[in-house]
Amino acid sequence: MKKLCGVLVLLLLLALGAMAWFLVIRGNTVQGEDGRTVVLLSASDRAFLLAEMRAWLESVQGITEALARGDMKSAAEEARAAGKVDMNQIPASLLRDLPVELKRLGFDTHAAFRTLAREIGSGKDAKDSLKMLSGLMLNCVGCHASYRVEVGRK
Ligand code: HEC
Repeated sequence: MKKLCGVLVLLLLLALGAMAWFLVIRGNTVQGEDGRTVVLLSASDRAFLLAEMRAWLESVQGITEALARGDMKSAAEEARAAGKVDMNQIPASLLRDLPVELKRLGFDTHAAFRTLAREIGSGKDAKDSLKMLSGLMLNCVGCHASYRVEVGRK
């Protein structure tokens, strides 16, 4: 009886592990024909993600413009806004369907914007701030090289 319980617990753990792999780590993804991983999302989650992306692009534009003008206060404000994450705003279904590596890169990018805001706020000059922004943008480049999104379900 004890042995049977052990086997059942083991099977349960394996099943949970497999579920975690499929649901959390890999997300709702298929392999795309262009070599990138395609994340399949609901239409509204895709729209949410793309709107966040356009906001990031606007932030990058705002930060570079402010840095070029030497307006460090606005540059820091723009960077701070781009770094903000409100977990209550992110749809749970989106968090479920995105693969864990994409989420990590996404949160890392938010954090990098917050670091940039702090650094500008504590006196980093425009040239070094641009260097930091350029480094941060390797996340944009890297994620776009690996992932794209489509509406659908596996
Ligand atoms: C963690 C992954 C990830 C990061 C980091 C990321 N993006 Fe994206 N972005 C995506 C995905 C996925 C798409 C959808 C691409 C597709 O389907 O072809 C996208 C699309 C976009 C789009 C198109 C939006 C639209 O309406 O079609 C813009 C603009 C964009 N990203 C800007 C940025 C900028 C700027 C950064 C960096 C500050 C960035 N992204 C960082 C994943 C990311």
